[in-house]
Amino acid sequence: MTNGWAMAAKIISVANMKGGVGKTTISVALAQALAAGPSKAKVLVLDLDAQANASFWLSGQAALTAQIEQSKAIDTFLEDAIIFEKPTKLSDFVRPAKAHSERLFVAPSSPNLRIVERELIVFLSRRHRNLLEVERVVSTLLDEQLESLRSDFDVIIFDTAPGISALTEAALRLSHVVVVPTVPDYVSNLGLLSFCRTVSWSSNDIANAVKRTPWVVANKVKSSRHHELMLQQMRAEASSHDHEFNMLRTEIPSSPQIDEIASGLDMDGELAFDTEGAGVFSRLAAEVLDLATRVATAPSRAA
Ligand SMILES: Nc1ncnc2c1ncn2[C@@H]1O[C@H](COP(=O)(O)OP(=O)(O)OP(=O)(O)O)[C@@H](O)[C@H]1O
Ligand SMILES: [Mg+2]
Repeated sequence: MTNGWAMAAKIISVANMKGGVGKTTISVALAQALAAGPSKAKVLVLDLDAQANASFWLSGQAALTAQIEQSKAIDTFLEDAIIFEKPTKLSDFVRPAKAHSERLFVAPSSPNLRIVERELIVFLSRRHRNLLEVERVVSTLLDEQLESLRSDFDVIIFDTAPGISALTEAALRLSHVVVVPTVPDYVSNLGLLSFCRTVSWSSNDIANAVKRTPWVVANKVKSSRHHELMLQQMRAEASSHDHEFNMLRTEIPSSPQIDEIASGLDMDGELAFDTEGAGVFSRLAAEVLDLATRVATAPSRAA
């Protein structure tokens, strides 16, 4: 490694079963802050969402369209590896991002991923595999394939789809840190505890699973009474004895600049999170990296 990093990549998943809470915005901004910021990390974003938003932002429309047409998106990787049992390498699906292309990379998704995920489940269930086994097949495959990528990258970030799928489950199992973006309002918090419980016990080895408490990050925070009260409640829950989640110190404000960048008014231009969102995403990146490093170097990390 050229930049003072050592050992295997830190693996981070950004997940929440609720849609629209900022998973993709945070995955991309975090990746960018790590690659372009002081840590100068070499970062790979693995897009596990058929909406392919992270791929779109990181690659730009033209490059993403070309990659999908050349069957170089992650749906093809999964189909080839699991259904056609072809020798396939995930590393062949990795491309430089359109900005910071020396240190920022993406394994893109495509809308076809939705169909392939269904196909996988049908294919494996015809072979009498139940849902748990489907999850195990997918996460074992990703784990094996990450083997070569772990030494090539400093940080690997999974952007996941809303809901809970076999792919999300696989990403959770492989991660050192699971970041759960949450808007501090009543509706967004309804499913938070149950989602965090599923994260806590996600493991390939159920019998010996170690609790993997996820890290909630408050996103789209407004200075309203409602948000303040919800944040107080969330922080109280996080510091209780039997807490289901921890909370990151960094709070991401509801910001028109962040929304404008993330809504992609200039999709083929430079990514601009590092300038517009500078302070907040750099702080988030430093906090998450520190946690991931601690988990990765702890003597008995969650399996
Ligand atoms: N801090 C923020 N301030 C203002 N707008 C934001 C912020 N974070 C995200 N957004 C906006 O919220 C919308 C949803 O964000 P994003 O796509 O990142 O969510 P998501 O959780 O990935 O959604 P999905 O569940 O569909 O994958 C986008 O339009 C984005 O611009
Ligand atoms: Mg998303």
